[in-house]
Amino acid sequence: MAYKRNIMITGGAGFIGSHVVRLFVKKYPQYHIINLDKLTYAGNLANLKDIEDAPNYTFVRADICDFDFVSKLIAEQNIDGIIHLAAESHVDRSIKDPFTFARTNVLGTLSLLQAARLQWEPKGYEGKLFYHISTDEVYGALELTHPEGMKPEFSAHEVYGDKFFTEDTAYNPHSPYSASKASSDHFVRAFHDTYGMPTVVTNCSNNYGPYQFPEKLIPLFINNIRHRKPLPVYGKGENVRDWLYVEDHARAIDVIFHEGRVAETYNIGGFNEWKNIDLIKVLIATVDRILGRPAGADEDLITYVTDRAGHDLRYAIDSRKLSRDLGWKPSLQFEEGIEKTVRWYLANQEWLDNVTSGDYQKYYDAMYGNR
Ligand code: NAD
Ligand code: DAU
Repeated sequence: MAYKRNIMITGGAGFIGSHVVRLFVKKYPQYHIINLDKLTYAGNLANLKDIEDAPNYTFVRADICDFDFVSKLIAEQNIDGIIHLAAESHVDRSIKDPFTFARTNVLGTLSLLQAARLQWEPKGYEGKLFYHISTDEVYGALELTHPEGMKPEFSAHEVYGDKFFTEDTAYNPHSPYSASKASSDHFVRAFHDTYGMPTVVTNCSNNYGPYQFPEKLIPLFINNIRHRKPLPVYGKGENVRDWLYVEDHARAIDVIFHEGRVAETYNIGGFNEWKNIDLIKVLIATVDRILGRPAGADEDLITYVTDRAGHDLRYAIDSRKLSRDLGWKPSLQFEEGIEKTVRWYLANQEWLDNVTSGDYQKYYDAMYGNR
């Protein structure tokens, strides 16, 4: 069958990527969706079980840094859209091993950009798009000017400062992770400005929901509460993050891929700020209630530990441009999203056990080769 579009999604076996792949495969049977993923520790094909046999879906195991392979794939599959999520994504790992972050996030993005350019440029860029998924962490950190919280008219939830990241905020990354993402964002914009490649960049706040690797706060803590293990709270737990349900991010990516303006940047966030310690108490209360434990029974698991080096104090995204220009809004209230998320992890202990033991990766080399 001739497909209307051939779209390559990188990092589609990871947390956010799997939700984007699922949305596109189901919503657009007229598109061929090619999921290119290296299957690092963070890539898990179990995240895509429900769509793996869909006729418009193809999985390819490859490293985005493999320029020759990626160039050939873009040519052979006649790729006209790239939604680029593949990355090393965990801040704590970047502190221990910054080189891997520079390799994948910077050189890997450059490899994809150059491969796409050399395939697309000779025939003209009409109908092509390179969509780069980035993070709010590139903007640096904001102050807690209102530590007790305040409620501006545009936010359904309390905010902890009077400044927000907008699309015009200057880049000021602090961790090796955010420095590598900032660098990749600059390369994407440079390919637009220098070669005329149609690009778009989005910077999103913290995502939560099913299929997130349990090294990140929310799945790690849900699993630890369930098993009554200590909850390692960095510093005083005062840091603020702006949380968005992952399916709302995937919906935003869909809208921007189809209707976003070329060369634009869009910030994506939920106006949903939480101090870590308050969020952790909500997680404890929710797990305890669902498991039928007495209210607050597990608060003694909270264990304050040494702070993360260079720990950014507050992230807060102003996503009004995206709402105004493209009509996107988060669909879920946080309470509803957290309830769904906690229930999902409690119901999917096998998935958690597989990723924590590493079993999910056992057969990948035999099945897909070790690229
Ligand atoms: P993740 O770590 O869960 O998944 C990353 C995926 O990329 C994995 O499937 C992994 O196998 C793949 N990958 C890694 N290196 C690769 C390589 N060299 N070649 C091919 N594939 C490779 O990450 P995530 O949390 O889903 O984040 C996805 C993207 O969204 C990242 O670019 C991240 O910077 C960005 N982002 C994440 C968040 C968040 O809260 N998680 C928020 C904003 C932006
Ligand atoms: O803001 C978007 C970013 O959100 C993404 O770009 C990153 O890929 C994603 O990992 C996430 O980064 P954070 O560092 O904010 O997420 P993490 O879940 O690691 O931590 C959330 C907060 O909780 C942060 O302030 C650190 C704190 N924390 C985290 C862990 C894992 C703890 O206190 N204890 C922990 O054990």
